[in-house]
Amino acid sequence: GNRTFTMIKPDAVGAGNVGAITKMIQEAGFSIKAMKMTKMSAERAGQFYEVHKERPFYNDLCEYMSSGAIVPMILEKDNAVEDFRTLIGATNPKEAAEGTIRALFAESIEANAIHGSDSDENAEIEGRFFFAKTEEF
Ligand code: GTP
Ligand code: MG
Repeated sequence: GNRTFTMIKPDAVGAGNVGAITKMIQEAGFSIKAMKMTKMSAERAGQFYEVHKERPFYNDLCEYMSSGAIVPMILEKDNAVEDFRTLIGATNPKEAAEGTIRALFAESIEANAIHGSDSDENAEIEGRFFFAKTEEF
């Protein structure tokens, strides 16, 4: 697939890193098809991360993801899902490869700066969670 979905998380937005992260995304060859700054309620964060509802960190994650502004985006590039997950690095910033977005900007395994969809199917579902087709160019 040639699309993925990402969201800059509250820690990175709050730290003023939206510009630096967006620049890295574009320099890595991704084209931004839709983007906005918004905020989720804890309930809405719970829907977004529904697949993790049995995990011990789920309530903390929903609280954290609704604690401040986020910047969701739909991105386009060949091999988008896999290449974007390479660009952001491992979930735990201590394990993230040097030069990745999480290595540079994440604070912790939870406050890890950015989300990247894990499949073409989830990229479509997650993009539609935030954007109407008419909002993309
Ligand atoms: P996303 O791109 O955000 O989906 O991250 P991921 O695919 O690298 O990780 P995963 O889907 O397994 O987890 C979703 C999010 O839950 C992570 O990005 C973290 O914000 C959070 N998370 C994952 N594992 C832990 C954990 O062990 N403890 C805590 N507190 N949060 C976690
Ligand atoms: Mg995930």
